[in-house]
Amino acid sequence: MKLTAEIIQANWEIFLTNIEEHISGNRGEQLLSFYKRYEERVILMPAAHKKEYHGAFPGGYVAHVNRVVEGSLRLYDMWEEMGCDMTTFTKEELVFSAINHDLGKMGDKEHESYIPQTDKWRKDKLGEDYMFNKQLAFCSVPDRGLFLLQQHDISYSFNEMIAIQTHDGLYDVANEKYLKAFMPEQKPRTSLPYILHQADMMAARIEFEYEWLPKFSKDSVDKSKSQFTLSTNKKSSTKSKALNTVSSPGLKSMLDSL
Ligand SMILES: [Fe+2]
Repeated sequence: MKLTAEIIQANWEIFLTNIEEHISGNRGEQLLSFYKRYEERVILMPAAHKKEYHGAFPGGYVAHVNRVVEGSLRLYDMWEEMGCDMTTFTKEELVFSAINHDLGKMGDKEHESYIPQTDKWRKDKLGEDYMFNKQLAFCSVPDRGLFLLQQHDISYSFNEMIAIQTHDGLYDVANEKYLKAFMPEQKPRTSLPYILHQADMMAARIEFEYEWLPKFSKDSVDKSKSQFTLSTNKKSSTKSKALNTVSSPGLKSMLDSL
C-alpha cells in the first residue's frame, strides 16, 4: 500500500491535534515538542519493516497510531456503556498510551529502527522496502518507547506505563505476568490496558485487511479505503508543511516515489 503525500501530511496534522486536544498542561507541550523534534523521522516511518506485518510503508506508523487513538476513544464509550468502571483511569491516560504505545519503533536518539532495504534481491523478490537497523541494540518496543519518554523528560503515570508495556496483550508472553494473573489482587486495577490492546489489535487487523485481502481475491476492494484517513481530521493550529521540510536525501527519494 502507498499513501499519497497529501494523506501523509493530513495524518501528521491529526497526530499533532490529538496531542493538543488530549494531553494537558506542560506535559502536552513537552510531548508536542518531542514529536516536532523528530518530525522528519516519525512522519514517514513505517509501522513495521516487513510487509507481512501491518503498515510497512511510508507514513504507515502515524496512520496506525491515529487509528489506535480513534479506536481507543470509540472503545472508551463502548466500555462505559457496557458498565466498565471508568473512574480507574482518565481519558488523557488512554490517549497518551495510544499515542505512544509503539513509540519504541522509532529507534533511539541517533538511529532509526527501520531503514531502506539495501539487499536488492530481498527488495525485488520479497518486496521488502525496509530492514531492521543493526546499529541499534535490541530492546522490546514497549521498553524502548518508555525509555525514550523518560529520556526526554516526559512523565507518564503508573496506568500509562502498564498500558504501554502490555499493549500487545498476550501476543507477547512477557505480558503474562500482568494479564494471566490468577489472584485477584494481581490483576490490573484498571481496564485501560485491555481497551488499548483491543484498539491496537483492531487497527492492526484492519491494516492487514487493506494490505492483504485484495491479494487473495480477484474481487477488487473498495478503493476509497486504500487512502483511508480519519473522520476526526481537524486542522492543527501547529500545522506545518512537514513534508516540504524533509532534508534527509533517503527520505526525500522515498517521498518522491509516493
Ligand atoms: Fe500498534
